[in-house]
Parts: sequence; C-alpha cells; structure tokens
Amino acid sequence: MTSQRPLALVTGGSSGIGFELAKQFAQNGFDVAISGSSGKVHDAAAALRDLGAEAYAHKADAATYEGVEGFWTFVTSLGRPVEAAALNVGIGIGGAFVDNDLEDEFRLIAINVTGTVHLAKRVVQHMVPNKRGRILITSSVSATLPTPYETVYGPSKAFGFMFAEALREELRDTGVTVTALLPGATDSEFHKNAGMANSAIGDMKKNDKTLVARQGFEALMNDVDHVVGGDEDTKQQVVKNRTTPEPEKAARHARMTKLRG
Ligand SMILES: NC(=O)c1ccc[n+]([C@@H]2O[C@H](COP(=O)([O-])OP(=O)(O)OC[C@H]3O[C@@H](n4cnc5c(N)ncnc54)[C@H](OP(=O)(O)O)[C@@H]3O)[C@@H](O)[C@H]2O)c1
Repeated sequence: MTSQRPLALVTGGSSGIGFELAKQFAQNGFDVAISGSSGKVHDAAAALRDLGAEAYAHKADAATYEGVEGFWTFVTSLGRPVEAAALNVGIGIGGAFVDNDLEDEFRLIAINVTGTVHLAKRVVQHMVPNKRGRILITSSVSATLPTPYETVYGPSKAFGFMFAEALREELRDTGVTVTALLPGATDSEFHKNAGMANSAIGDMKKNDKTLVARQGFEALMNDVDHVVGGDEDTKQQVVKNRTTPEPEKAARHARMTKLRG
C-alpha cells in the first residue's frame, strides 16, 4: 500500500546536520528521500526506517550536474508530491587561499552554490504548480561575516542565505515557503572533512547537531524566514555581527581558523 505520509527530501542526509534533519522529518510524520556521496546513505536510510518512515537512499555526487539531476529523477520516480525539501549538502575547505587548489574551490562552489540553485529550480517548478511546499536551505553563521582561511566557503553560504530570502519573497502567496538555517559551528564531520581539525575552531566546543536540526525543522514548519542554529551564545554572535565592522569580524575569524604551524 502506498504511504499516506508526506514526502521530504534531504540532500547530504547521510550524516551530520542533514541526517539529523532527516530524523526530524521521520519523527514528525514524513517519509524521506536522502542523498549522499558514499554508501553511508543506505545505513542512514535503514536508521530512518527504524523511526517508522519510508526512507529512500540515493548515492550521487552533488558536485556534478548529473549527480544533482539524478537525485531529482530518483525522487520524482517515487511518483509522490514533494512536500518539503532540505537543500542541505555543503562542504568546507580550510587553509590559505594562496595555497589551496583551485579545482577544490570550484568543487565547493559546484556543491554549495551551483548544486543548490540546480535542485532549487527543480523543487520550485514542482511545488509552485502544486501550490504547496516548504524549502529549507542550510546556510551558516559564516554568511554574516568574512571568513578568512575559509575564504570561499563563507561567501558560498552568504549566497545561500540571500538566495533563500529572495526566493521566499518571490514565492510569497504561492503556497511555497522558503527558510534559511544558519548553524553556528556544529559537532559533525564538517571541520575534519574541510581539513580544519588542526585549528582553534577544530578543537572548539560545538553546537549539538540534533538541536541545530530541530531549530531548522521548527523554523521550516513555522514559516520563519531564517533561524540561527545553536545555543544562545551563537544567536548573540549573529546579533553582534550586524553592527561589528567587517575587518574586526575577519580578524576574529582568522584567529579561529588559521591552521597551526
Ligand atoms: N558543521 C558545521 O559547523 C556547520 C556550520 C554551519 C553550516 N553548516 C552547513 O551544514 C551543512 C551540512 O554540514 P555538516 O556539518 O552536516 O557536514 P558533514 O558532517 O560533513 O556532512 C555532509 C553531508 O553531505 C554529504 N556530502 C558531502 N559531499 C557530497 C557530495 N559531493 N555529494 C553528495 N553528498 C555529499 C555527506 O555524505 P557522504 O559522507 O556520503 O559524502 C554528508 O551526508 C552544510 O551545508 C554546511 O555548510 C555546517
């Protein structure tokens, strides 16, 4: 029998914040389609089934056109309307811009920016005719400051934040909502994968990923334009960032992110 539960998709849903978002959907009555770049995505889907959801796993590289399109084809082949979409997948790259490999930076832009626009296009063109749907875009607190030693990452997340806010306004009155999630530093594999384990931020106590995902899910369900994910200090940091000069924020961030000798 076909499931009566609404369907949500979550990119980068195999671990970290994305897996926690997928759990939020599963625990709140959704079935979930998730993507990831490794076999982990199948284990994650099994864990979501244990929560009572139907869960569909797709392995694809979000850095490529075929990978993004392939996930969307996979989701639409389920033959069900997509009620919610969490465009969450993203990577970071630590280290100095002068040293970093240009190809790696293009890959970051392909995943964080190009891939987000690509899947958003498919999702919006699916949801608007249905006159319903909720879109969550995972940005970052890094969208609110210059991010030296993650020099390309921060601007990619600023793109996500303003893209979400602009799309939200365009889609007003269509029945489709858009929400941005801005997590502070969060306890996932993100900093290790970004090559930043050997930095002050690598060692720092981080926000709980379950809390961050719950805040994102609740903001999505309550049709809030954006939410900062994390504890009270993280939220206060973003308030201060609105009035702190860019050079001051850049110097503070550099102290957190510069790799140790
Ligand atoms: N953690 C933080 O401190 C933090 C703070 C602010 C914002 N964010 C944002 O939160 C989002 C999730 O980050 P996270 O902390 O959960 O990171 P994470 O623990 O590294 O998880 C990343 C997820 O994305 C998937 N992924 C990575 N590269 C992929 C690719 N090329 N194709 C398909 N899937 C890919 C991973 O799957 P595989 O493992 O199978 O590759 C995994 O499911 C990102 O957009 C990030 O920018 C994170």
